[in-house]
Amino acid sequence: MQSFLKYRQFKMKAMKLKLVTMAGLLAVLSACMSTSPQIGPDASAWSDYLSWYKVTPEAVTGDPTGVLGAVHDGRNAFRQIYVNSVGAAVNRGTQGYPYPAGTILLKESFSDAQALAARRNPDLTIMIKLATGQSPATGDWEYVMGADGSRRGTGDSGQAAFCRNCHLYAAATDYNFINSRFFANNR
Ligand code: HEC
Repeated sequence: MQSFLKYRQFKMKAMKLKLVTMAGLLAVLSACMSTSPQIGPDASAWSDYLSWYKVTPEAVTGDPTGVLGAVHDGRNAFRQIYVNSVGAAVNRGTQGYPYPAGTILLKESFSDAQALAARRNPDLTIMIKLATGQSPATGDWEYVMGADGSRRGTGDSGQAAFCRNCHLYAAATDYNFINSRFFANNR
């Protein structure tokens, strides 16, 4: 498993340059990215996320996967990831992939260490696992931007393609980059 992860990381590094350019371009385009009608639950489904299993015991900064580029507030941001109880066993490695429908992966990005310490204005990006067949183009994940859940991405919408095209590098782990084992092996 260890060597598989290293191989994947190597492949990811090779893609990095291309992605940095792409992410820069897409950051500019993201203001006008098309969204799609909501399929997953309302924002109340993640209102208590601070009580969920925390995938990252310490905040992640830098670029541990090698493909981050300028997204998720970039490599200087401090990121923390949480998973709800539906997906916790898969994330912790006691149940196999894929994640069950109803899983929610949520990422907080703080602009710097001070913002993290004060818990000031985290940007939220969220992945919701839908039922099989609800959005085959995104591996049945709904990609959500923002705490209020108003911007959703499934199917062939611009937002879905933006998120999916990068999370595709983690396809072997159901589009999830940082699980508990990845975190432990890369600290
Ligand atoms: C250029 C690549 C890229 C794009 C585009 C991207 N992400 Fe990510 N995402 C990552 C990486 C890399 C991580 C791993 C954690 C880290 O380094 O911060 C991640 C982590 C996440 C996580 C935590 C679960 C995990 O896979 O580790 C969520 C949730 C997430 N992203 C949501 C989104 C959403 C929603 C979008 C679109 C609005 C998006 N991402 C677009 C690269 C990307």
